[in-house]
Amino acid sequence: MLVILKDDYDAMSKEAALIVVDRLRKKPNMVLGLATGSTPIGLYKELIRMHVDEGLDFSKVTTFNLDEYVGLSPCHDQSYQYFMKQNLFNHINIQAQNIHLPDGMANDIDHFCDWYEEEIRKAGGIDLQILGIGPNGHIAFNEPGSSLGSRTRIKTLTENTRKANARFFKSINEVPKYAITMGVGTIMDAKELVLLANGAGKADAIKAAVEGPLTGQCPASIIQLHRKTFVIADHDASSKLSGSYPGTWRSSFMLER
Ligand code: PGA
Repeated sequence: MLVILKDDYDAMSKEAALIVVDRLRKKPNMVLGLATGSTPIGLYKELIRMHVDEGLDFSKVTTFNLDEYVGLSPCHDQSYQYFMKQNLFNHINIQAQNIHLPDGMANDIDHFCDWYEEEIRKAGGIDLQILGIGPNGHIAFNEPGSSLGSRTRIKTLTENTRKANARFFKSINEVPKYAITMGVGTIMDAKELVLLANGAGKADAIKAAVEGPLTGQCPASIIQLHRKTFVIADHDASSKLSGSYPGTWRSSFMLER
C-alpha cells in the first residue's frame, strides 16, 4: 500500500487524476471502477478538464460503478446513475454501451448481481478501482460486519450511512434502506485500488483502514491485503495516522518509474 498525503481536496483529486490518466494512456481500453459520493467529484472534474483541454480519450474505456440504491430509478436525481451522468459521463466521450452500474430497479436482484459479476469477468476484470470511504469504514456499501470475501449483492444500509447521506435527500425518510453493491471480494479483485479521503470526518476511518487490525468491522481495512493500493488523503483525513508517509515527491517518483 502506498499512502500519499496531500494538503487539501484539490491536491488529492489531482493526484488521483495523475494515476488514472497514467493508466489510461498506457491502456486506452482500460476497465475503470468508479465511485460516487462527494469525494471523487474533484477527480472527475480533473478528468473532464483533461478531456476538454487535452483530448484525453475515453472512447475505449469500460466502466463499472461500485453501487446503486435499490428502488431509485435512473432518472431520480439521487440515483448513482444520474450522479455519474451529471458529474462525468455527460462530459467525456465514453460510449454508453461501455458503462455499467448496478440496476437498482432490477426485478430479480440476485440474478442481476450474478450478471454484474459475470460482466466484470467478461471485461477482463477491473484494472483500477476508485474508492471513497465511509466515516464507519465502509467501502462501496459494504457496511461494518460485511464478509471480507463478499461479491456483488444487496445490502441493508446502516442508520449512520443513511444519516450521512440524508444531506442529499429532502429528509432521512427518503434515503433508501437497501443498495446493490460490489462485494469486498469483488473490489479486492481489481488490479489496482485508489482510495480517496478528505476531511476530518474521515480521519478515524483512515486510521482504522491503514493502521488498524484487519477486520470486517472496518471493511476498508482489507486494503492492507491488496497488492497495489494507493491511499490518497488530505491533511484532515490523514491527521490521525501515526506512521510516516510520503508526500508529493514520492508519488511523482512512483509515477515516473
Ligand atoms: P462521500 O461518501 O464521498 O460522500 O464522503 C463516501 C462513502 O460513503 O463511501
